[in-house]
Amino acid sequence: MQAEVQAADRMPVCAACHDTGAGGAPRMGRVQDWAPRLKKGMPTLISSVRQGIPGTLMASETCDGCTDAEIKSLIRRLSAPVKP
Ligand code: HEC
Repeated sequence: MQAEVQAADRMPVCAACHDTGAGGAPRMGRVQDWAPRLKKGMPTLISSVRQGIPGTLMASETCDGCTDAEIKSLIRRLSAPVKP
């Protein structure tokens, strides 16, 4: 699917912060980091990615040109549990 391909292209951008947890970013695959975020609901998280989170490293232009489906797919990948 097209959306999946483009989301995969963006993944390294997101991972730059979310892999290490730079600036307090919820870390990839860490359930405990993502649980409180996911509770906000997908529409809120999508708008956080679109608008950024003022005062944090999470910038509004991170996913310029992404569709909602792409953003959703990225959030799913970032938050999916990784086995150690
Ligand atoms: C420059 C670093 C950086 C990059 C690049 C980045 N993020 Fe983040 N992200 C953060 C930080 C820091 C937070 C936590 C902000 C806070 O304190 O709430 C965050 C939070 C989030 C959240 C949680 C939002 C919420 O409302 O709780 C989501 C979802 C997210 N990022 C998705 C993404 C996606 C998808 C990408 C790639 C398109 C991305 N981020 C790229 C730093 C980054």
